[in-house]
Amino acid sequence: MLRTLYLKFFEEKNHSIISSASLLPENDPTVLFTTAGMHPLQPFLLGEPHPSGKRLVNCQKCIRTGDIEDVGDSTHLTFFEMLGNWSLGDYFKEEAIEMSWEFLTDPRWLGLDPNKISVTVFEGDEEVPRDEESASIWKKVGIPEKRIYYLPREDNWWGPAGETGPCGPDTEMFFDTGKKKCSSSCQPGCNCGKYFEIWNDVFMSYNKVSENKYEKLKQKNVDTGMGIERTVAVLNDMKTIFEIDTIKPIVDRIVDFTKIDHPNPEQIESVHIIADHIRAATFILGDDKHLTPSNLGQGYVLRRLIRRIIRQGNLLNIKQRFLPVLAQIVIETYKNIYPELENNKSFIIEQLTQEEQKFSTALRKGLRKFNQIYSQTGTITAKDAFLLFTSFGFPLEITLELAAEKNLEIDLDKFKQEFEGHRDLSRKATEGTFQSGLADHSSRTTRLHTATHLLQQALREVLGEHVQQRGSNITSERTRFDFTHSQKLSREELKAVEDLVNQKIQEALPVKKVIMKPSEAKKQGALGFFDDRYEENVSVYSVGDFSKEICTGPHVRNTSEIKHFIIQKQQNIGTGLIRIRATIE
Ligand code: ALA
Repeated sequence: MLRTLYLKFFEEKNHSIISSASLLPENDPTVLFTTAGMHPLQPFLLGEPHPSGKRLVNCQKCIRTGDIEDVGDSTHLTFFEMLGNWSLGDYFKEEAIEMSWEFLTDPRWLGLDPNKISVTVFEGDEEVPRDEESASIWKKVGIPEKRIYYLPREDNWWGPAGETGPCGPDTEMFFDTGKKKCSSSCQPGCNCGKYFEIWNDVFMSYNKVSENKYEKLKQKNVDTGMGIERTVAVLNDMKTIFEIDTIKPIVDRIVDFTKIDHPNPEQIESVHIIADHIRAATFILGDDKHLTPSNLGQGYVLRRLIRRIIRQGNLLNIKQRFLPVLAQIVIETYKNIYPELENNKSFIIEQLTQEEQKFSTALRKGLRKFNQIYSQTGTITAKDAFLLFTSFGFPLEITLELAAEKNLEIDLDKFKQEFEGHRDLSRKATEGTFQSGLADHSSRTTRLHTATHLLQQALREVLGEHVQQRGSNITSERTRFDFTHSQKLSREELKAVEDLVNQKIQEALPVKKVIMKPSEAKKQGALGFFDDRYEENVSVYSVGDFSKEICTGPHVRNTSEIKHFIIQKQQNIGTGLIRIRATIE
């Protein structure tokens, strides 16, 4: 077992094993859930003495909801376990890297083939110098120079967990899965699946005190993180994370419930979402703090997870109540490692049963209401979405999913206005709910944003002018673009679209912004399908002569900055709507 081996290794290296902290952070208003092993240790990284000493190791329960939209594919989870070892002002880069290398490659421990491991280190910027020290330690332990990559802050800097706090440059270890490179420039950091990140050693020697302001910490710390589920999956050569020993029994039981012999890809995605969310919900409910589903903060995330399970169950045509049965499997799997699950078992079952009862009925009634509004008015407005939320407990995303099936777009800004009038919700609780458009303005999201404009135009050229944007969501990892088209693209069409985007990147086209009246923008043929949102003046972004769109930016200045565009997958998300997920490298 990876967990046992890891703890034993670091115990032999004089680390004290500490237990996992609660999933619900103490005294930290900046995040809703514990997102990494270092999170509960922040006071000690800042200098306070830890009761168990300066060398610690543990396995921490974590929840990250930032990727919730991606759950269902082969690698994303909201709940996961993270192994980590810490030096609180004790050892630093040399010993940390030597221990990581020993654990990964020594036959007594993981015994991985050293030739399959490559690493990345921080390339340096104006504030913090290039990490030559880590690179030279890696060379010393046996990694050849050609497998050491220098990457920028967006890849090789970790933290803080919230808005401020301890952080620093990191070095990441990648396992070569043996897959083909996706392109000649494919290297660790590329997320095509060839190079798999198994471990991250963070050299936490900085404290972020405010936006762009970093101070050196009193002590030099090490914080490391190895996600159990992903690592177990890759080391066992599994295609998806849902095949590992702690998740597979849940998946199998869900499939039993569906009575479907050969689930299609969309059904598999639903099964995966349920498997992930039931783990997250069970662990949140299993916390001694006895958090309950609500419309506020953490309770709202919990409610969203549970209601999403029920909705997915409904899509899979599961007729009976199934949440408590699945939760029992989670409890059985983990009760020896996290005894709180067994201790809080009756609370977990009781809460899931109640919420399932409440929402199953509401879902039926709400679906009826949704269809009634739609057949009477031909649309679903932001106000309707709000009514579905307040009267039937429909999380916004469920309404959005239903609307997308009918080709409708809901005005998120208007919904937000309605929502903000509704005092119950904290800002944090709603933040994840409104992740539309750009999640942040890092250079990768900006590059992906311009790439998305190229994508829309390329789709129009390849498939026809009927292609119109219906939704777009960009994170630093990928862009997701929903558009009107009646069927999935053929392999040739996908390739033609991808090639056309790459051709426009290679042509190094300038990107220009001009402010004008919406009527003028329309006259010039600018794309923009959300007319009622626009102000008196709009900015129009054009990419060479190729694309012109009404948009608020930001964008790159020249398409060459995008480098290379890759379509990762497509999905038919409902009548007449196709979703493409793409990335850049
Ligand atoms: N805190 C670091 C991470 O989560 C180790 O990757």
